[in-house]
Amino acid sequence: MEEVVGARVGVPEPKYYAVKRHLLELIGSLSPGSLVPTERVLTAELHTSRTTVRRALSELVGEGRLVRRQGSGTYVAEPKISWPLRMTSFTEQASSSGYSTSTRLLEATRTRAEDDIADKLKLRPGAPSYYIERLRLVDGTPMAVETSHLSAKQFPGLIGELRRKSSLYRVLSDTYGVRPVEAEETIETASASPREAGLLEVDTGAPILVLSRHSFDADGEPIEYVRSWYRGDRYTFVARLSAP
Ligand code: GLP
Repeated sequence: MEEVVGARVGVPEPKYYAVKRHLLELIGSLSPGSLVPTERVLTAELHTSRTTVRRALSELVGEGRLVRRQGSGTYVAEPKISWPLRMTSFTEQASSSGYSTSTRLLEATRTRAEDDIADKLKLRPGAPSYYIERLRLVDGTPMAVETSHLSAKQFPGLIGELRRKSSLYRVLSDTYGVRPVEAEETIETASASPREAGLLEVDTGAPILVLSRHSFDADGEPIEYVRSWYRGDRYTFVARLSAP
């Protein structure tokens, strides 16, 4: 790879990164929604190749600093959504932050728990369980793909209920009198698969934040195991920490 010496710390820096730094400065001086110069203009202005400019632009799109609008151009992105990590549901969290949500049920099946899911839900391997996959939208924009596993014995008729009410936590409390009160949540990064990319309307390989939640009721019994693929370009997760 062609490299130049980085201006700041003397570390070799790929050429596209110098273009990216230049663009970051430009983005900092513009307001959200401003149009940035085209690939062709940047290539000429920065005396570099179109491939180099394209790579810098793509990274900034993946990081949520720029947005591409088909046939229109590339713009400075709106600030990301600040999403507190709390023991709430997607629906509750969005509405308390002033957003409207909708949910598309992609798949809802009764299946047999694989070993790892059985372990999480304290079931015997192969016990009946639900696999639910949903697309979560905020203000009409697809934001996360979420897969949930729950015990079918504990929640009979859950799929029908979920088709009527879109909030899982609402169904759990209204129909089954169950409330998740504690959870372990992990966050890791991933790249969007072609399917996730299609659903979330991002490029394949775009950064994704994967949150896994294992929640429990007041007696410490497991309720759900959930994995959520959030768009890395749209979310900042916020955890409030306090000294022990
Ligand atoms: C969040 C949590 C999930 C939980 C879901 C319930 O997304 N990460 O573990 O299942 O909220 O949300 P709702 O009640 O809106 O379906």
